[in-house]
Amino acid sequence: MNILVINGPNLNLLGEREPDIYGSDTLEELMAWLETSSESIGINFKFYQSNHEGDIIDSIQDEREWCKAIIINPGAFSHYSYAIRDAIVAVNKPTIEVHLSDINNRESFRKKLVISDVCLRTISGKGKDGYLEALKYLKSI
Ligand code: DQA
Repeated sequence: MNILVINGPNLNLLGEREPDIYGSDTLEELMAWLETSSESIGINFKFYQSNHEGDIIDSIQDEREWCKAIIINPGAFSHYSYAIRDAIVAVNKPTIEVHLSDINNRESFRKKLVISDVCLRTISGKGKDGYLEALKYLKSI
C-alpha cells in the first residue's frame, strides 16, 4: 500500500516551533517514527513538506497514480485553501486530515475547516499519534 504523507506550511519548523503546542519532535523525527512503527510494515511512504500551496497541489497531482491514500496535515491551509480541497476531490483518493494540536480549543479562526469534509476523517489534538491513527484507519478500509 502506497501512502503519500503531506505536511504543509511551518511544519518544517516542528521541534522549535511552539513546542508547548506542537511537541518537541522535529518533522523528520516524527515521520521516521511513523515509518518505523509496526503499523507501517508493508507500507510504502512518500513524505512531502512544503510551505507553498501550489507545490502541495502539484504533489497531490503528481503522486495520484502512485499513491493509494493520502495523509495530510495542511497546516494553516486547512482554514482557507479551497484549491487544496479541490485537488483532493480531483484525485479521488481516501484522505485523512491530521492536526497535531486541538484546533477546536485554540483561536476561533482554526475552527473553520475547508478541507475536512472531503476527507474521510479529521484527527486533531492527538499529537504525533494522530498520524498513526490515520494510518491505522486507512489500513482498515
Ligand atoms: C496545525 C493546526 C493549524 O491551525 C496550524 O496553522 C498549523 C498546524 C496542527 O498540526 O495542529 O500550522 O495543522
